Amino acid sequence: MKKSLFLSLVTVMMLAMSGCYYDWIVPETIPEIPVDEEISFSVQILPIFTTGNNCTSCHRTGGTSPDLSAGNAFAVITGNYINQANPEQSKIYTVPSPLAAKQHFKVYTGEQAALVLAWIKQGAKNN
Ligand code: HEC
Repeated sequence: MKKSLFLSLVTVMMLAMSGCYYDWIVPETIPEIPVDEEISFSVQILPIFTTGNNCTSCHRTGGTSPDLSAGNAFAVITGNYINQANPEQSKIYTVPSPLAAKQHFKVYTGEQAALVLAWIKQGAKNN
């Protein structure tokens, strides 16, 4: 009798303790992109916004700004959403970041966030 009470107590404690871990949201880490790897806007950045209407379902021409449609994304982003002096503060990087305190409607994967940041650091070229 005592033994089964003890065992059930242990079980309850173990469940309670594992419950703590269950609730953790593990943030995606942002990988490092080697500095000598040139990022292409048209090949690597634009498809993040447009493929499957990932961002353009909302951020399209006449929709929510910024307009991230293929024809306008570059001009719009480089106009207002990039902070060349402090790339980590660029809105196009911070707002959809998987590490942002307030999670956006769509969040970059760690890889996508790294590509966007590397592209800005390389001068946000229309390449
Ligand atoms: C479901 C609709 C929706 C999707 C999908 C979406 N967004 Fe947004 N986005 C919004 C809305 C609404 C706002 C303005 C309000 C806010 O910031 O919450 C916004 C704001 C932003 C801003 C800040 C605008 C400003 O002027 O401060 C950026 C940058 C942005 N989105 C980028 C993205 C990117 C990049 C993606 C794709 C990875 C994306 N969004 C996907 C709805 C969306």
